[in-house]
Amino acid sequence: MKIAILPGDGIGTEIMAEAVKVLGVLDLKFETESALVGGVAYDAHGHPLPEGTLNLAKAADAVLFGAVGDWKYDKLERQFRPEQAILGLRKHLGLFANFRPAICYEQLTHASSLKPELVAGLDILIIRELTGDIYFGQPRGRRTAVDGHFPGAEEAFDTMRYSRPEIERIAHVAFQAARKRASGKGGQGGKVTSVDKANVLETFQFWKDVVTEVHKDYPDVTLEHMYVDNAAMQLVKAPKQLDVVVTGNMFGDILSDEAAMLTGSIGMLPSASLDKHNKGLYEPSHGSAPDIAGKGVANPLATILSSAMMLRYSLNQPEAADRIESAVKAVLSAGLRTGDIWSEGTQRVGTREMGDAVVAALSGKAITTTTKITKS
Ligand code: IPM
Ligand code: MG
Repeated sequence: MKIAILPGDGIGTEIMAEAVKVLGVLDLKFETESALVGGVAYDAHGHPLPEGTLNLAKAADAVLFGAVGDWKYDKLERQFRPEQAILGLRKHLGLFANFRPAICYEQLTHASSLKPELVAGLDILIIRELTGDIYFGQPRGRRTAVDGHFPGAEEAFDTMRYSRPEIERIAHVAFQAARKRASGKGGQGGKVTSVDKANVLETFQFWKDVVTEVHKDYPDVTLEHMYVDNAAMQLVKAPKQLDVVVTGNMFGDILSDEAAMLTGSIGMLPSASLDKHNKGLYEPSHGSAPDIAGKGVANPLATILSSAMMLRYSLNQPEAADRIESAVKAVLSAGLRTGDIWSEGTQRVGTREMGDAVVAALSGKAITTTTKITKS
């Protein structure tokens, strides 16, 4: 097994170091190789996704990715911005299915901005289509009102587009995921909520029609359709009515951030982006947080939990994945918290201490830290 390690920018290096440390104590045989990606790759090689990095990702069995982006690259031409690295990896590796679970850990019910009773026990899976939609639609660009003179464009445009096979494959992924989740909970086929904007957009009327057709293969799974504006509202009104949510690239980007925040902290949530053979890229749902980079305070748990998803989905090591997830719960139960999930009465720790605590839990050692209980 070969894992490509791409820490990226901002807090990426700090959180990745903890995930690699955790993987290292699992007693599994794998090789890891790191490469630059994002802004740091642009600085070193003039491109956010250098060929060497892309080739490493292609050759590996799985990719563990940190985060990319920094305001200092905002003035670069779009093709050189750090974000293009993750978009390029998704496209070149064919990673079309993005799993973004939003799980409210029992220990963190009070870290949510919603009332505890609305989020206690929350367990939603957002499945975002990742290689189509307006993100990759052609044509796109800028033009002047008069014969294409630049600079001083008067108009800009991006094209929203989905093909039938693209919708069919993500719909199959969603129905199968709903079934699997339901059987894990001893229930029927589960429920899929397909989110669209069929009342306005042709692309999403088509989306709705194709999802409805694919549903015929899954009579045991309940399918409902929801407009995206209503979905945004239902997520904060009564999120527990949702089980699996499937949607396009753009709506999924927005709704997954919203759903993540219901759980108290985006710093807790892992994600997986899979191709049709279950090869995947695993990354925390949060970004590079340049404002706290280098301070040793970022929450490494989303990246550590992403490595658990990697073991489960791509490397066929479900027991190791379970062990990591249990260790994270043990650390939370012991009261350890990074700043983003800290609350009165819990113990504030830094990035490295959090990683060390997960390692201790995995090794069956007592979870201790050198930090005193913070009062404010
Ligand atoms: C995400 C991010 C990316 C996206 C950016 C960094 C390109 O917001 O993974 O959700 O929009 O997909
Ligand atoms: Mg996003």
